[in-house]
Amino acid sequence: MALVASKHLLQKADRDGYAVPAFNFANMELLQGIVAAAEEMNSPAILAASEGAIKYAGLPMISAMVNAAVKKSKVPLVLHLDHGLSLSTLHDAAKAGFTSLMFDGSRYPFTENINKSRWAARLAKRAGLSIELEVGVIGGKEDKVFGGAGCMTDPDQAWAFERQTVPDALAVSVGTAHGHVKKDLGLDFNLLKKINQLVKAPLVLHGSSGVSDWDLKKAISLGVCKVNMDTQLRNAFTNEVRSILAEKPDEIDLRKYLGPARDAVKKTAMERIAACGSEDKA
Ligand code: G3H
Ligand code: ZN
Repeated sequence: MALVASKHLLQKADRDGYAVPAFNFANMELLQGIVAAAEEMNSPAILAASEGAIKYAGLPMISAMVNAAVKKSKVPLVLHLDHGLSLSTLHDAAKAGFTSLMFDGSRYPFTENINKSRWAARLAKRAGLSIELEVGVIGGKEDKVFGGAGCMTDPDQAWAFERQTVPDALAVSVGTAHGHVKKDLGLDFNLLKKINQLVKAPLVLHGSSGVSDWDLKKAISLGVCKVNMDTQLRNAFTNEVRSILAEKPDEIDLRKYLGPARDAVKKTAMERIAACGSEDKA
């Protein structure tokens, strides 16, 4: 199957009450683990590459790996730019075959975020790609994105932001933070409900690693249609490598620890797909 844009997948998820999982990857094993999980669960999935991942692997390699993975796949997969920080990154990703772009203008004051996001939306739409934008600030740290303590999304600002930028998906800050596996922050469901009443676009929950299945399901029932996860997969991968090398410190056949790490990623991704309710929605 060819790569698809995220817009229609998210609209379908919105109608049918589930969320499409978005998993970050930066190397072949993570990508293979994620795609294998989506295949086995018959779930759509968004393959998310951040600016950090692009810097690490290179844009041509990211796009070549994904295209190779997609050729064999029977489920709808999206190649998505996660937290694009500049129009030039969006432009490069569009040229490299990404089918969905995120522009993250959350570090700018509200009006400047609107202005820059409008340009980003125009760029994506001209290229026939889906666009995700962000209003409010998601806390924590992810690659090049530093949200500090974060700033919860104001529902009225979300409404005004959507009217002026018309995104295909809107990332909001409702209590999660980037880069944690165990969250004790607590999602603000009342806030999410208010935002969902005012905003038409499918909502995106960032920083979802470690959010409990119950919280995830509740968030999905309140309009979240895309769930972003990164740290949890890195953790599964790295823990497996660590434990194998602790047992066999002299192992130098990297397939002996990267292979099991890939399986650990697949297992974690399958659990999260189940929590998103996207099993058999391909
Ligand atoms: O954009 C990606 C996500 O928001 C990942 O957050 O690492 O906390 O799961 P996470
Ligand atoms: Zn994020």
